[in-house]
Amino acid sequence: MTQPLRLGIAGLGTVGAAVVGMVARRAEALSASGRTVAVTAVSARDKSRDRGLDLSGFAWFDDPVALAQSDAIDVFVELVGGAEGPAKAAVEAAIASGKHVVTANKALLARHGAALAKAAEEKGVALAYEASVAGGIPVIKAIREGLAGNAVSRVYGILNGTCNYILSRMEAEGLTFEACLKDAQALGYAEADPTFDVEGFDTAHKLAILTSLAFGVEIDADGVSVEGISAIQPLDLAMADELGYRIKLLGVAQATEAGIEQRVHPTMVAKASAIAQVMGVTNAVTVDADAVGELTLIGPGAGGKATASAVVADIADVAAGVRRPTFGRPVAALSAPRRVEMQRHEGGYYIRLTVHDRTGVAAGVATRMAEAGISIESIVQRRSAKAASSDPKGRSGQPVPLVLITYAATEGNVREALAAIGRDGLLAEAPQLIRIERE
Ligand SMILES: NC(=O)c1ccc[n+]([C@@H]2O[C@H](COP(=O)([O-])OP(=O)(O)OC[C@H]3O[C@@H](n4cnc5c(N)ncnc54)[C@H](OP(=O)(O)O)[C@@H]3O)[C@@H](O)[C@H]2O)c1
Repeated sequence: MTQPLRLGIAGLGTVGAAVVGMVARRAEALSASGRTVAVTAVSARDKSRDRGLDLSGFAWFDDPVALAQSDAIDVFVELVGGAEGPAKAAVEAAIASGKHVVTANKALLARHGAALAKAAEEKGVALAYEASVAGGIPVIKAIREGLAGNAVSRVYGILNGTCNYILSRMEAEGLTFEACLKDAQALGYAEADPTFDVEGFDTAHKLAILTSLAFGVEIDADGVSVEGISAIQPLDLAMADELGYRIKLLGVAQATEAGIEQRVHPTMVAKASAIAQVMGVTNAVTVDADAVGELTLIGPGAGGKATASAVVADIADVAAGVRRPTFGRPVAALSAPRRVEMQRHEGGYYIRLTVHDRTGVAAGVATRMAEAGISIESIVQRRSAKAASSDPKGRSGQPVPLVLITYAATEGNVREALAAIGRDGLLAEAPQLIRIERE
């Protein structure tokens, strides 16, 4: 009779507690591969905290590193979080002592994935991380295994539920970013310090992992260009709606001749696209691949149960003896990342200028755009009620929005045109620039 696979769970918070419950509930199904699976030891900070779990049958460790090194476990399940500190020390210790590792920790993978994958490879142990990107959506397996026969040209997604919740509410109710963030915090969707989510860093970590998998390159989290959603205004969402778009915070990795673009930014997506239908805290990942075409996976990106679903899938693989190179190929076969500067990005742009309501302003803007080689697809000028009432007949000189949609242009040229428009004294406020992602 094969020995049971013994799990040590470090971290008994939202995800860890759900994993302990799921392993117990799904014990029979998990043993279908021929090996029973059982939690034997756990670690968290506070032993006395009520977690709604009976922990009496498990060995308790105050120190996750000691748990990682313990002979009482075969698999170390890291659900503590954080790129450094106890999570990193414990995962390194687990690999060094020959334990398989299952983790949900995107920050750790994004920062130290290459070194950890190399160590795991040398020790012949698994380093599994399905839960680290898009929570319950099995996107790691889908790209690494399901699309192994494809060359991927682009992968992009809504990878942060907090941002998608905020943008969805702003769009549906015309509310400000600040108001929606407050609600997200009250509902537990956003942390007390929301910077990591709303400024795009969480999405960047997940994107860096997807890029490595999809393109066979070493993980390069520092190569991601990152912009968050805090500067998006209700007017941008209303204009997007009018022009046939929705605004989503996307992480996009795209193969170009110069290398692989990795960018996180608010993005205009066509209202009819699959990704535009994804509202609230839901996540989605779209892969463009040569054989399969476009594939979109949509599902819950966070939450105890949904994330535990991905963690337990990794545990089932370890139990069944499935071993895959961490990033789809041996670490030595991953190519070095070739970064592409954002200035070289080419695509359509939504540009919202706040201009003085004066004769000739639109023409002045159009001239600067043309000089920079940028073709304008549409131009929308609005007079605010205030501007109109101050001078119903003529130009008021008041600040008014002027929105441009461009055909494909390079970011460098767009920035050059905006700088020239600024020098001409046409702008009452800094411009808003949102990239358009075509299907
Ligand atoms: N929550 C989600 O929806 C979600 C989704 C995808 C991925 N993830 C990832 O899953 C991981 C866990 O997230 P979570 O939401 O479950 O976090 P959480 O609720 O904050 O739980 C963290 C757990 O780690 C324990 N811990 C913290 N520092 C420790 C230390 N020094 N030694 C031992 N234990 C320590 C805490 O102990 P105490 O309970 O005693 O304080 C707690 O049980 C993170 O990497 C996160 O990014 C989470």
